[in-house]
Amino acid sequence: MSHIILPKKWNLPAKEITPEHVFNNRRHFLKLMGFTTAGIAGALFAPPAFAQSGLSRLAERLVAEKQNAALPYYKNLKRNPEYTIRRPMTDEPVALKYNNYYEFSPEKDDVWKHLDQFEPHPWQIEITGHIKHPGKYAIEDFIKQFSIEERTYRHRCVETWAMVVPWNGFEMMDLLKKVQPTSKAKFIKFTTFQNPEAAPGQKIYNTLPWPYTEGLTMDEAQNELAFMATGIYGHTLPKQHGAPIRLVLPWKYGFKSIKAIVKIEFTDKRPTTFWNTLIPKEYDFVANVNPDVPHPRWSQRREKMIGTGEVYATQKYNGYGDFVANLYA
Ligand code: MTE
Repeated sequence: MSHIILPKKWNLPAKEITPEHVFNNRRHFLKLMGFTTAGIAGALFAPPAFAQSGLSRLAERLVAEKQNAALPYYKNLKRNPEYTIRRPMTDEPVALKYNNYYEFSPEKDDVWKHLDQFEPHPWQIEITGHIKHPGKYAIEDFIKQFSIEERTYRHRCVETWAMVVPWNGFEMMDLLKKVQPTSKAKFIKFTTFQNPEAAPGQKIYNTLPWPYTEGLTMDEAQNELAFMATGIYGHTLPKQHGAPIRLVLPWKYGFKSIKAIVKIEFTDKRPTTFWNTLIPKEYDFVANVNPDVPHPRWSQRREKMIGTGEVYATQKYNGYGDFVANLYA
């Protein structure tokens, strides 16, 4: 595997290369995200912020209804019984109001309030690099090529919160069959939109390495769990979950599951990725869920379900070892 080429400025202590106001801007961002002294370790044991949001159940329902009002529902969505979970499903209004989406806000219970200027339609997606059939598509034409099914997956954030949600979309392998990667393709790089006018996080924290990018090896992309989600809870994706299309990789920490994809590029070198570029010591490229490898600032032994606050022991590969352990033997 080739080494990651980092833009030089991210290798240097921020103060050496950045004007002070810009440095403070980045430091503020990192602090909000728990990347300074206290970290989020305390949050694992304190009552979860999401359960204490101050909104009544009625207000939560109204938020969910507002967010979902414009979303088309699928009539004959087929559930794939291979991918179901014994844990209770996370309530939709809870998942809608607890998001990681730093383009909009570094505060999880705040993302849904900052989406008004963002328009995921019309949308184009480009598939490029070492493949036989590159192309640029309107998102509707792109999705039309695949048959959509529903899968319920666990989701485990690196920050120790977890949820169980029904995604809908198609297997990444279906995309690979269509575009036909050549023998030069070793990795896939995924890129999110860049539009600071519509995404306040990109505007305020403008020294971060936007646009958000992520990557996979070709072997990982061919695994049956790797999923391109076009919807959730029986309808298309709302903005906060990554409309109009995102990645879902349930055996990896959630930051690998990049939202609002505009470009999928097949490369011969390991791509640079957002978090790995920003804080390489804390976020590696592989990022498989593993209770035995603590985050440098907190334990990964346990996870807490959003909404109910139930705590479970973290499972290696987030419980998907039967599907993926062979990839890392
Ligand atoms: N994709 C983009 N473009 N920007 C982000 O900030 N956050 C990631 C991932 N995808 C993120 C992203 C993280 S850290 C997590 S845990 C999941 O999205 C959260 O997905 P959800 O908000 O739909 O639950």
